Amino acid sequence: ASQLRILGIETSCDETAASVVLRHADGRGEIVSDVVLSQLEEHSLYGGVVPEIAARAHVEALDLLVEEALDKAKTRLLDIDAVAATAGPGLIGGLIVGLMTGKALARAAGKPLYAINHLEGHALTARLTDGVEFPYLMLLVSGGHTQLVLVRGVGDYVRWGTTIDDALGEAFDKTAKLLGLPYPGGPAVERAAAHGDEKRFAFPRPLVGEARLDFSFSGLKTAVRQAAEAAAPVTEKDIADICASFQRAIVRTMDDRIGRGLKRFHDEFPGLGRQPALVVAGGVAANKALRAALLALCERHSFRFIAPPHHLCTDNAAMIAWAGLERMALGLPADDFSTAPRSRWP
Ligand code: KG4
Ligand code: ZN
Repeated sequence: ASQLRILGIETSCDETAASVVLRHADGRGEIVSDVVLSQLEEHSLYGGVVPEIAARAHVEALDLLVEEALDKAKTRLLDIDAVAATAGPGLIGGLIVGLMTGKALARAAGKPLYAINHLEGHALTARLTDGVEFPYLMLLVSGGHTQLVLVRGVGDYVRWGTTIDDALGEAFDKTAKLLGLPYPGGPAVERAAAHGDEKRFAFPRPLVGEARLDFSFSGLKTAVRQAAEAAAPVTEKDIADICASFQRAIVRTMDDRIGRGLKRFHDEFPGLGRQPALVVAGGVAANKALRAALLALCERHSFRFIAPPHHLCTDNAAMIAWAGLERMALGLPADDFSTAPRSRWP
C-alpha cells in the first residue's frame, strides 16, 4: 500500500479526542496530530463520569477538536483517505456524537468510514508506537476494563481473562471515594500509598492460585470498607496504610494472574523464534508499583515489556485512527454508513 492518512475520532467515555495519523508505505505509523480534551473537571464534582454531562461536553467540543487536529496536521479534510470513529463499547451518548460526526465528515469528504471498537484501538496501539509483531499479549487496565487479550492479528483477538465484577481502575476509584480522597482515585491512592505501611492490613487477593485467567476486585473493595470502618475515625496514617496494603494486594494479584498468562503464551507458541511481548494499556498502567511488578514478571518469564507513553495508554484518537489504518492497509472493507453505535461490544 502507498501512504495512507486518516482522521480518528474518540468519544466513548470522558475524553473528546481527534487525531491525524499517517501510515507510511513501509508500514510505519506516524502521529501527525493528537488532541485530547479531558472532561475531568466537569465530572470530578460528582466523583465519577456522568453520562449526560459527558455527551453534552462531546457535542460542544468535538467539531473544534477535529478542526484543531486537521490544522495541526496541516491537512484539509479533502486530503485524508478515510475517517475512523469509535463505535463502541462505551457510553451511548458520546458514541452517537462521535460516530455521527465521523459519518458526516466521511460523507462530506467522499471517503470511507471505519467504525472502530475502542478496545481494538487499545490492543493495536503498541504496533503504532513499537511496531510489535503478532501474536502478542495485551493487558488492558482502565476505569472500565480489565482484560488480558491474546492479539493474533488485526480483528483476531482472544480474550483470555476479564474481570468478573469491578474493573481495576474502578477498584482504585471506589477505594479513594471510601477514604475521602479526590477523583480520579488511582493517582490519589498511589500518592497516599507511598508513605503507608503495606503490611498493616492483610487484604484478600481474589482468584490467586486459580487456573482461569479472570480477575475480581469487588471483595477487595469490601475489605477496604471494613478496615476503614474498624479504624474510624480514620487518620492520615490509617489512610496511607490502607492504600499501601490495598496496592500491595493488587500488585500480588496481578503478578499471579498475569504470570499464568505469560506461561500459557509460552505453552501455546513454543516456536515463536523471538522474545514474546506483553503490552499494557489503560490509565492504571500509570501506576508505578504495578509497572515495576509487571516489568519484573516479564523479566522472569523472558517477555518484552511494552508500555506505550502515558497519553497513548489512556483514551485518545490516535489509537482509533491507527486501528482504521491497519484495516485499510489489509484491504479490509470499510463500514456502512448505517452502522450503529454499540454501548456493549466485546
Ligand atoms: O484509561 P483511563 O484513563 O480511562 C478510562 O477508563 O476511561 O483510565 C482511568 C482509570 C481511573 O480509574 C484511574 O483511577 C486509573 O485509571 N488510574 C490509576 C492511576 N492513574 C490513573 N490507577 C492507579 N494508579 C494510578 N497512578
Ligand atoms: Zn479506553
